[in-house]
Amino acid sequence: MNKIKIATRGNSYQVIIGYKVSKYLSHELRDKKIFFITDKNVYKLHKETIDRIYASCKQKEVYTFTATEKNKNFNELEKILNQLTIKNFQRDSIIVAIGGGIVGDIAGFAAAIFMRGIKFIQLPTTLLAAVDSSVGGKTGINYKGTKNLIGSFHQPSLVLADTGFFDTLPKEEIICGIGEIIKYGFISTTKMFDFISDNFQKVLDLDYFVIDRIVAESIRIKGAVVKADEKELGLRKILNFGHTFAHAFEVSSGHKIKHGQAVIIGIACALILSKNKHLIKADEFNRAIQLIDKVKPFVLINGINKNDLIQIMMRDKKNRDGKIKFVLLKSIGEVLIDVEARDSEILKAINSALELFKDKNEIV
Ligand SMILES: NC(=O)c1ccc[n+]([C@@H]2O[C@H](COP(=O)([O-])OP(=O)(O)OC[C@H]3O[C@@H](n4cnc5c(N)ncnc54)[C@H](O)[C@@H]3O)[C@@H](O)[C@H]2O)c1
Repeated sequence: MNKIKIATRGNSYQVIIGYKVSKYLSHELRDKKIFFITDKNVYKLHKETIDRIYASCKQKEVYTFTATEKNKNFNELEKILNQLTIKNFQRDSIIVAIGGGIVGDIAGFAAAIFMRGIKFIQLPTTLLAAVDSSVGGKTGINYKGTKNLIGSFHQPSLVLADTGFFDTLPKEEIICGIGEIIKYGFISTTKMFDFISDNFQKVLDLDYFVIDRIVAESIRIKGAVVKADEKELGLRKILNFGHTFAHAFEVSSGHKIKHGQAVIIGIACALILSKNKHLIKADEFNRAIQLIDKVKPFVLINGINKNDLIQIMMRDKKNRDGKIKFVLLKSIGEVLIDVEARDSEILKAINSALELFKDKNEIV
């Protein structure tokens, strides 16, 4: 079991990582009124574990929904807020999110705005949510075709990353988690990069020794960045490496492409754009692309509409002065933020990246 403390200006909390650590939750929930939000799919797969958690609290309500990008919306949020209101939840009540990033993002946002903010606890059940979305306090929903357009920064009060949930993850979801994990490899240190590269197959096979270490290391990296820049005024932008492209792929495909897999192609685009703009040296680029080559065979992409991509990127939250801003790479661990590019450069990078994945693609 690993314990990591995340410290932000207004709040500090523990992230506990390990097999079956969700059993520690009952202690936190005793004597509190709890609103559980979970994903139908996760409940079905982990009924016994989740029922045990429910049974540990006397006062509770349960809200279960189908976690999809299309349901990460106002309608679902309103239903949650409605239940919190009619069931008389109060300022000292706690929301507990049990699920992947979609459950965590919407539950966290409900907690951020109900009564101007109540406590919430994250139990990430996907690898992606454990290494990334459950930590750092970004919460929100998709709005009018833009990912995470409406949201708030609201830190959880506890994160329990129970790796036992991963036992039922399909391979495509493990790959999604790997998408965010390789991001940490590119933006942090060559040591992390090499560890991920050397242990890629073990992560894919859910070797729990490696998983525990990689989840803990990813959270340590994210925690340090969030501590330095909680509200993304500068440094935190590095966590968006590959994401400007990724969000456009997700939206243009009508969310047929999963977030984590879109991040992998997005990172490939960002690397190619870095090379084309002569920001990264050839040997460093080749080293970086070798990791993409390892992951590539497992990525499934379809439904990208190339004509829409620039238009979608224009609506990205990170843009300033009407210009799309990219996070690019100078070398492994050396990241450049707020880099601008011409439309022609952006499209060239996308075309080259999609060429890399060409046997995996059904481009519209
Ligand atoms: N807030 C942040 O900082 C942040 C960071 C990264 C991503 N995100 C968001 O997170 C979302 C992606 O998260 P995700 O990949 O966890 O998606 P998700 O919540 O949709 O989960 C992916 C799929 O896995 C299933 N699933 C969940 N746990 C499972 C388990 N233990 N076993 C089997 N199946 C399981 C779900 O039912 C779903 O079908 C996106 O909306 C993205 O924008 C947020």
